[in-house]
Amino acid sequence: MRKPIILGNWKMHKTLGEAIEFIDELKTRELPKSVEAGICAPFIHLSDLVAGSKDSDFGIGAENGHYEDSGAFTGEVSIASLADLGVDYVIIGHSERRQFFAETDEAINKKILKSLEKNVVPVVCVGESLEEREDGSYESLIKRQIEKAFMNVTETDASKVVVAYEPIWAIGTGKSATSKDANDMCKFIRETIKELYSDSVAEAVRIQYGGSVKPENITEYMAEADIDGALVGGASLEVDGFIALLEGAK
Ligand code: G3P
Repeated sequence: MRKPIILGNWKMHKTLGEAIEFIDELKTRELPKSVEAGICAPFIHLSDLVAGSKDSDFGIGAENGHYEDSGAFTGEVSIASLADLGVDYVIIGHSERRQFFAETDEAINKKILKSLEKNVVPVVCVGESLEEREDGSYESLIKRQIEKAFMNVTETDASKVVVAYEPIWAIGTGKSATSKDANDMCKFIRETIKELYSDSVAEAVRIQYGGSVKPENITEYMAEADIDGALVGGASLEVDGFIALLEGAK
């Protein structure tokens, strides 16, 4: 049985004050125990959010991290220091990072390996562009992204990775994938993981859908056999919306 997981990805939104206000409010609310919940926020908020979410029913994640433990990498934050801070998750290879910050499959793989080493749950994003969806190359692309992401990840560690299938054309557009299309791809990802490892690893790995998920459509996605949760941008920015997503995922 895979525990559903709903993660907010705040991207470059919220000031520190707004972030703290959100967490303080969320802490006062009853959250469904059957759903794992987390908020991934900008680096500068993480220290306060980790402290503020202590003894709560939700975790805190980063939106990126560097695979080197330390060194001359101006402007970067190491996964090692995120682990030291007590961060629970790190989003890796989001399409916005692949697209705007030239993040490669190789770097993404190193980040996943480092997160596993440091006991931070890696949430690795894969997904195709509209062009790749329309020209039919999307399955081979996703397969390649998964194979490269899991390179040198041991069988024991593989099931700790969370995969987020986020078709780029559905992100922030309001144009979400149908639940059937999203499930077909999550199933395809699971089959790819099965080829790489085993039936039991494939059955254990949690696969989220991301792309214009909101309280109105979360139950549709969660009703699908291979969708184990969602990585949510815009709809995770308000406490009520975030809780409605958790409720819809139970
Ligand atoms: O990582 C979540 C994201 O890319 C989806 O964003 O705003 O379409 O939910 P949004």
